[in-house]
Amino acid sequence: MAKLLATKPLSRLLHEAQDEGESGLKRTLGPLNLITLGVGAIIGAGIFVLTGQAAAKHAGPAVMLSFVVAGITCAFAGLCYAEFASLIPIAGSAYTYGYATLGEFVAWIIGWDLVLEYAFGAATVASGWSGYFVGLLQDFHIHIPPQLTTTPGNVLYLYHDRWQALTALPAGINASALPHVAGVFNLVAFLVITVITTILIIGIQESANLNTAIVIVKLGVVGVFLVLGIGYILKHPAEAHANWTPFIPPSEGPGAFGIGGITAGAASIFFAYIGFDAVSTAAQEAKNPKRDMPIGILGSLVFCTLLYIVVSGVLTGLVNYRALNVGDPVAVGIDVTGVRWGSILVKIGAVFGLSTVMLVMLLGQSRVFYSMSRDGLLWKWAGVIHPRFRTPWISNLVVGAIVAFMPALLPISRLSELVNMGTLLAFAIVCAGVWILRRRNPTLHRPFKTPLVPLVPFLGIVSALYLVWTLPTLTKVVVLGWLAFGLVIYFTYSVKHSKVQLALKAEGK
Ligand code: ALA
Repeated sequence: MAKLLATKPLSRLLHEAQDEGESGLKRTLGPLNLITLGVGAIIGAGIFVLTGQAAAKHAGPAVMLSFVVAGITCAFAGLCYAEFASLIPIAGSAYTYGYATLGEFVAWIIGWDLVLEYAFGAATVASGWSGYFVGLLQDFHIHIPPQLTTTPGNVLYLYHDRWQALTALPAGINASALPHVAGVFNLVAFLVITVITTILIIGIQESANLNTAIVIVKLGVVGVFLVLGIGYILKHPAEAHANWTPFIPPSEGPGAFGIGGITAGAASIFFAYIGFDAVSTAAQEAKNPKRDMPIGILGSLVFCTLLYIVVSGVLTGLVNYRALNVGDPVAVGIDVTGVRWGSILVKIGAVFGLSTVMLVMLLGQSRVFYSMSRDGLLWKWAGVIHPRFRTPWISNLVVGAIVAFMPALLPISRLSELVNMGTLLAFAIVCAGVWILRRRNPTLHRPFKTPLVPLVPFLGIVSALYLVWTLPTLTKVVVLGWLAFGLVIYFTYSVKHSKVQLALKAEGK
């Protein structure tokens, strides 16, 4: 039991965080790179898809408040991540923080749990990305063989000159009379992960620069939406006023409108915030992590929170919230302004937007595996650094291959709840870790200090666990199954190869 609770000494972690010279990860990222990595990971399917559903089903125009609530929840965790990432700038993120404070067993669980956030997150987003990308090509009358755009067995129909999965057929349309094909392999999703993996292998600076360029495009698209939307609202204030009234629609049952709807809405749009924590996995590649990690994590979080509040406010002003339960609410919003090219622009924004989410998630996953391997808890190959590119290339390659096959073969577009749960558990552990380390080692010099400890970590733990509690039971069961699978690896491989355990043995403990 004592072995499972063994922590990794802070002195050793701080030593490892120092520059490893030419053989380690390359320290090239500055504060702007780190903020854009955060924004790249955060803005994605959440804002382009979930905002409308949260407004239509849970909160109405008060979805703005749902964004405030979810943003505050993330801020508690963000402050704790900032303290750890500047104190222990190691690529393992929550896994490493857990190892330093709660012991090896919890660290393993959280490292394995992060797969749900990063690898499953990237796979889920790839599935959504392929839908947007194929739709965009079809707007330009470019048709990829439909069998190669969806998972095996999923039937696509040719309707209105587009291959699409018709879930609810319009009245009078007989599906079997329409040309249709069954999917074989989602090559589009497979290829996007392959391309991103290749870029990640080539270099961290190259990946970060590409990310920054794409983030500028996606922010441009969101900016155009805001300019058009605010312009329309200023010209038609009565319409917007009617759409915003009542601001908090009266309750229609648990989680449907009223005050309860605001918190239910917050839980459902939590996915939109995921990603700021991934900045911490780049800590070992930051030039000045002590100063820049808090800037990257908190800067991207604050920026995106403000942006989300404004976007959701404009969206619910343009369109009545009841009409927003669609897959492309931002496009529906822009259509109201009468701008014809609006929906194509939004699709372009989504295609760009989702690609950086995948990039940062895959970056995060490879860095967590890298750290676990360096600690002896995963196989050695995961820690191998490419001599020229200075990236954990085998880890990138293996993660990329697994993640590429997932959306190509499995209907996983609805895995976002698993991703939420994986992330929330990591948040709770990181908050607990800050609190524990403050008690255990109060005088340690911390470049960034989480304010109001233990209140902030406590609220971070409570709010994360509350959101876990609101998730479907099936999600919780699947996560438990996933963690149990991880424990098989831990007890068959990791305990025998753990460097911390080997050091304890050598000391005769
Ligand atoms: N926050 C990311 C998104 O919304 C995961 O796609």
